[in-house]
Amino acid sequence: MTDILLLNGPNLGILGDREPEIYGSDTLADIVTAVSDEVADAGWKVIAIQDESEAELIRALHAHRYSTAGAIVNPGALMIAGWSLRDALASYPPPWIEVHLSNVWAREQFRHQSVTAALAQGAVVGLGAFGYRLAARSLLHLLGSDR
Ligand code: DQA
Repeated sequence: MTDILLLNGPNLGILGDREPEIYGSDTLADIVTAVSDEVADAGWKVIAIQDESEAELIRALHAHRYSTAGAIVNPGALMIAGWSLRDALASYPPPWIEVHLSNVWAREQFRHQSVTAALAQGAVVGLGAFGYRLAARSLLHLLGSDR
């Protein structure tokens, strides 16, 4: 069984209710289901972790760094200055994809810089919850499991 990590940072546990005009109406549970659907045919299992604390996200990366084949990461606002999360991602060997529901470049200036994205294999930005499905498909492709 191949496991992948679905990591969501601060304030993403209240998706659906949180500024739906920006982040959409899908809940995090909907997103976990969608990602699980995408990878089910390949026999992959999703380990979904959301936390408000950078420390817990780092712990999750440490715990799963050799047991998962890849990760989908929405760091939330930790993209802006989450240097410890950035270092944990640098020590996470498998490929991972950064996702942002909103188009961060169309928003406030402080969201235009990500300290984490440069370490990602790729990024999906501004496509809402569907972006997580695209990230899952990207991981399937990168790991040769998309056929
Ligand atoms: C976000 C964008 C971040 O700037 C913001 O702090 C979030 C959500 C997104 O998915 O669009 O929490 O990562």
